[in-house]
Amino acid sequence: MTEHVPVLLEEATDLLTGGGGKVFLDCTLGGGGHAKRILEKVKDSYIIGIDWDEEAIEIAEKNLKDFEGRFSIYKANFVNLDLVLKEEGVDRVDGMLFDLGMSMYQLRSNRGFSFQRDAPLDMRMDREQKLTAYDVVNRYPERELERILREYGEERLSRRIARAIVKRREKKPIETTGELVEIIVSVYPERLRYGRIHPATRVFQAIRIEVNKELENLEVALKKTPELLNHGGRLVVISFHSLEDRIVKRFFKERQNLFRILTKKPITPSEDEIRMNLASRSAKLRAGERI
Ligand SMILES: C[S@@+](CC[C@H](N)C(=O)[O-])C[C@H]1O[C@@H](n2cnc3c(N)ncnc32)[C@H](O)[C@@H]1O
Repeated sequence: MTEHVPVLLEEATDLLTGGGGKVFLDCTLGGGGHAKRILEKVKDSYIIGIDWDEEAIEIAEKNLKDFEGRFSIYKANFVNLDLVLKEEGVDRVDGMLFDLGMSMYQLRSNRGFSFQRDAPLDMRMDREQKLTAYDVVNRYPERELERILREYGEERLSRRIARAIVKRREKKPIETTGELVEIIVSVYPERLRYGRIHPATRVFQAIRIEVNKELENLEVALKKTPELLNHGGRLVVISFHSLEDRIVKRFFKERQNLFRILTKKPITPSEDEIRMNLASRSAKLRAGERI
């Protein structure tokens, strides 16, 4: 299986651990790439890891097996990070990491995240959740679909694509990623079909954000962080979408009484990192230290 390459690995883990302290909360454990690096860097450190994807947790457990006894993992939505800490019996931690978006494991799975792989329209990171991409594509009103594609996907052809989806589903439900890709491509004028990014990129991103309520979850979770960080503790957030970054930026700006901002401008991957891991190209890291 293709490995997930952790993004901004040294930058994120240096910032996170730079305030001292030993107990860290990784809100997006994924394959455990960042978590492993923290455990390597800080002697006697301990990681509490959260992910809502069962498969991610299995992979993380394997990747962290050399650190047995120095981590605990919870299957949870990170909006419930306060409850996780309560269950763990920890009042406050020394650092919290959010590495948003999806992992390479998810993208390469058969769960409908990728437009390059024909699969049922699912896109749920948490498979216990009800809402799937199928529901969004087949049941959302046209105007709502159009809004999601425009806002979350910044898709210029949102109206046309939403129209085409609705027209198609009137005949028969749209079941697979392949069918959806075919509809999107058919709407794209020929001259735009072979641009820098595939015409389905933005639509898939938009539907994934909607299915997983990514922006809402981020807003709610961030608001809970100040009370759960020790003084000098660090909050590090890596985002991959301009709307996410806007939420993070605003969060820190409005709480300058609670956080000293450590990244005046967001940190972005070097050209070398982007060359080695294209998925890192849109990453932006912001960090603050709890006052
Ligand atoms: C980019 S990956 C993290 C990769 C990880 N830092 C690593 O180095 O292996 C993001 C992970 O966050 C998880 N995730 C996203 N939103 C979440 C949420 N609201 N609650 C819990 N986990 C979430 C996803 O399931 C995914 O595994």
